[in-house]
Amino acid sequence: MKALIVGGGIMGTSIALELAAAQVEVTVLERSLPGAEASTAAAGMLAPQLEAHAPGPMLELSMRSRTLYPAWAQRLSAESGLDVGYQACGALQVALTTAQAYELEATVAWQTAAGLRATFLTGDEARALEPALSPDAVAAAHFPDDHQIDPRKLMTALTAVARKRGITFRAALVRRVLERSGRALGLELEKGQLEADVTIVAAGAWTSQLPGVGVQEAHLKPARGQLLELSPPTTAVHHLLKAGVGYVVPRAGGRVICGTTVELVGYDKRVTDEGRAQILAQAQALCPGLAGATIVDAWAGLRPWTADGLPLLGFGHLDGLVIASGHYRNGILLAPITARLVAQLVTGGRPAMDLSPFRPDRFGGAAG
Ligand code: GLY
Repeated sequence: MKALIVGGGIMGTSIALELAAAQVEVTVLERSLPGAEASTAAAGMLAPQLEAHAPGPMLELSMRSRTLYPAWAQRLSAESGLDVGYQACGALQVALTTAQAYELEATVAWQTAAGLRATFLTGDEARALEPALSPDAVAAAHFPDDHQIDPRKLMTALTAVARKRGITFRAALVRRVLERSGRALGLELEKGQLEADVTIVAAGAWTSQLPGVGVQEAHLKPARGQLLELSPPTTAVHHLLKAGVGYVVPRAGGRVICGTTVELVGYDKRVTDEGRAQILAQAQALCPGLAGATIVDAWAGLRPWTADGLPLLGFGHLDGLVIASGHYRNGILLAPITARLVAQLVTGGRPAMDLSPFRPDRFGGAAG
């Protein structure tokens, strides 16, 4: 069987590896370098509990992926000989107001009832665990099983393993999905065309721009996220910290990644003065010690936002067309489970979970 994958980010490359393991001949089409877009802009939080609002299909998908992560990351690291920066650091969701503290109490209650490890901490208890935390923190929820990975290191290892296993990466501009009588035949490229038994679109925020894929821009579009890397003089942070859209992710060697913004501004990856100021304010509200830190890098990525917050995962509107996109703020976390589910679909197996909530055609209007 032959498969084409549009997009050489973490999704496309992870899917390629899983398919190659099932003896599928895979070519990945990427117009830039593998991982050049959102995959290497991400903060790398493997934190479904920090992100979850309620039980449901998104939490189930995320939890399954988090469970796969340690062994998946370990295999990639062992096979590539490269460190991927996996850290079992735990996470603290922080309340800076009393109202937020009540919300956190409710979060801890439903997560505990769902069988997840979560503890409600007073401000003092939270500071005992994470001394860098602000004296203004009223309370926190501790999620010890939320971890992190370094997406840039991971992408380097993933690509190295994919090449080692014979997966072809081709630099190409894809023009459209080729179709005949309701079946995807492959892809028209800027130069020439390629045919395959299955065509998989994992083009992140660009998915809705590809003619023939059947995904409308109203349902999948870019959401810019700006990030900063800080080099703090002294403050040592140990956990993932989050309050609202603000987060602090401690990396090895004392570096700290801070985010973020969520902006629907089209395909514009600029870092702005407002974005920088917002992120610094959010980070300092969590850890006042970061006030003296130096900004060593600043960048932005385009997350694939979807209209209902769920990914597009499953068969598209054509036979032989699979879509794996719209992972929004959780692309790094969701890569292993997405790869596994897509491989199960493509090879005719039964997916490990019900994919109906993620159906790519759930918004209707498949034309284009
Ligand atoms: N999950 C991190 C972000 O979207 O910024």
